[in-house]
Amino acid sequence: MSEHLPIEQAALERIWFHVTSPQALREPGGMSVFTEGKGCYLTDVHGDTYLDALSGGAFVTNIGHGRVEVAEAMATQAAKLAYVTPYCFAAEPTIALAEKLKEITPGDLHRAFFTSGGTEAVETALKIAKQYQWLKGDQKRSKVISRRGSYHGSSFFAMSISGASHDFNSKIFAPMVPGCVQVPHHNIYRHDPCMSEEAYAEFCINAVEETIRHEGPETVAAIIAEPIPASASIYLPPDDYLRRLREIADKYGVVLIIDEVINGFGRTGKMFASEHWNVKPDIMTMAKGLTSGYAPMGAVMVSEKITLPFDSAEGRESGLNHVISFGGHAASAAAALKNIEIMETEGMVENSATMGQYFLNGLEELKKYPIVGDIRGKGLLTAVELVQDKKTRAMFPPEAQMMAKVTRRLRENGVLARTYQVVEFGPPLCAGKSEIEKIVEAMEETIIWFSKEVGIQ
Ligand SMILES: Cc1ncc(COP(=O)(O)O)c(C=O)c1O
Repeated sequence: MSEHLPIEQAALERIWFHVTSPQALREPGGMSVFTEGKGCYLTDVHGDTYLDALSGGAFVTNIGHGRVEVAEAMATQAAKLAYVTPYCFAAEPTIALAEKLKEITPGDLHRAFFTSGGTEAVETALKIAKQYQWLKGDQKRSKVISRRGSYHGSSFFAMSISGASHDFNSKIFAPMVPGCVQVPHHNIYRHDPCMSEEAYAEFCINAVEETIRHEGPETVAAIIAEPIPASASIYLPPDDYLRRLREIADKYGVVLIIDEVINGFGRTGKMFASEHWNVKPDIMTMAKGLTSGYAPMGAVMVSEKITLPFDSAEGRESGLNHVISFGGHAASAAAALKNIEIMETEGMVENSATMGQYFLNGLEELKKYPIVGDIRGKGLLTAVELVQDKKTRAMFPPEAQMMAKVTRRLRENGVLARTYQVVEFGPPLCAGKSEIEKIVEAMEETIIWFSKEVGIQ
């Protein structure tokens, strides 16, 4: 894409793209204008079709592109009643969606606070946790514990608990929200070489308890964790990690928030990733796959324990002092309901588990190449970690431009994915064997090509 079409030039001039620098956007293949999507495929203004191995570029379009039934459900609802305020009005599909979420989420999550997306869901969850502690009489509990490297959103509070890009954020956007305390992440592949993997897993969970004790349990409101941290290299938690997190939260009266914004809605082969480890959150955040991107919507599901003090308090403080005008939008709720219906009737969660295993088996074969350090994932959320040295697990230096080059080569091979520290894949949950095989083939060619580029054969 050396010569941009006028529409691409207009996009570059008029749209402020998220995260990506203007220089990177102007690189060949740095920005695309798409005109159509169908299932796992996206077609751009040049008429080129790509396999969308990242569900709209951000693990969103779980049911796949172009499902007319969702568009029709939204249109019908919008024509009937598009919007009423969430302060004290509700529309029928919003109530039906809250009921559905109660049915499909784990534990006793029973009430939904609707938002416009994931960042707002996280922001809301944190405020609910703080007000819950306040109403219980624990008015010094204001701190939030999160894990280094995680990503929970872009608003000030969500950014302050996110370890990803922490150096950038704290340099440019300081001051961050006070009281955000981060603990080590359970990245077993990059564990401290002085410890065994088991010892490192133990160290990570113990760090949570030690941090609560160090900060003073009476000052800690909540801990937030994404079961399989998608933006932090997609590494699975040690088997016992989430159960122990639940225990620690209970022991110290800390609210456990599980962030399922990416993990949720079948991405990891269960409806929610929490189910793999049987963890029952006090609060769960969700977005993305809730509507598969057909409408902007997020939700916070809250357990009975948390709603109780709100329901029984008197006066102004019993209402959550938090308003999002588009929360519970009727047309978005209609989209979410149809989206979940499609997911269930077409067995997409099960397909994510089966195809996910098929995908991992295919990727495992690539371990024969010297630059493939690790393969991991669950369901249709997988990662390939490329390394300069397999033995020491040394990463490629920035001069190798691994991230940009690998992403570009995959694209030239017809596959859209993204590479941060690892190559990340999260195709729509309707992906079949042929899509998975195409991604694995494209990855293999990319590995061979990049190995030659960096002189490692
Ligand atoms: C785990 C997690 N939480 C929250 C968010 C924020 O969601 P959104 O981009 O919809 O605001 C993201 C976004 O990628 C995420 O990965």
